[in-house]
Amino acid sequence: MKIIVAKNYREMSERAADLIFAEVLLKPDCVLGLATGSSPLGVYASLSTRYAEGRIQFHDVTTINLDEYQGIDGNHEQSYRYYMNQNLFQHIDIQEKNIYIPDGLARDPHKECLRYDQIIHEKGRIDLQLLGLGMDGHIGFNEPADSFTTGTHLVKLDPSTVDANSRFFKRKEDVPRYAYTVGIDTIMQARKVVMLVCGAAKAEIVQRAFEGPVVPQVPASILQLHPDFTLVMDQEASSMLMHSGHLL
Ligand code: GLP
Repeated sequence: MKIIVAKNYREMSERAADLIFAEVLLKPDCVLGLATGSSPLGVYASLSTRYAEGRIQFHDVTTINLDEYQGIDGNHEQSYRYYMNQNLFQHIDIQEKNIYIPDGLARDPHKECLRYDQIIHEKGRIDLQLLGLGMDGHIGFNEPADSFTTGTHLVKLDPSTVDANSRFFKRKEDVPRYAYTVGIDTIMQARKVVMLVCGAAKAEIVQRAFEGPVVPQVPASILQLHPDFTLVMDQEASSMLMHSGHLL
């Protein structure tokens, strides 16, 4: 596990964007696993700028998003599809046919999960998976549980996740209670995993996830076992880590 502690959000975003930039330059047809939330916004802005400057192309890149709310369509302002369009896809030359996000309005959730897993299987391993960290240690929408969940599945969101995500909705009642997420297996099978964490509010969960035991009650803790995992965070998020020997 590599740890990069950045001065602030901007530097965190640039450092993580550098890793994606390198991946795309080295493998122009790579498969990127993408995340939503506030943490990756700066990364997407930086990649969009690099594209506008002619330094990178996404024409042959495939993207597979981690998750999507159930019950809202892709044009809904809070859907992850909308977020991705607004913050990245509309600014770069990615081809629509290479973009994958679960369909929040799928009639049959079971079939939707199978369809999404089939896509992941057909694309082969994700080359670089970008992640954020939930306040309860979730990754994607894999919430704390008694075992690590595998396969794309529909999850009932933890009340603390609904609370955390209500900041993006007009009313808390509007926050979807269910969401599709890829399983922990898909995340762990990625060749590289890059996680972004910022802010003092996440310092405690960072400490539990990366200096505590590997347990499904803290889903992100499993990343301690990933052979190529880079945690990129700001100073505030790193403030409760005891061991700094492996900081870059
Ligand atoms: C949501 C997303 C996660 C994300 C998390 C943290 O729950 N499903 O993929 O990592 O929020 O979001 P933020 O970066 O806004 O703290």
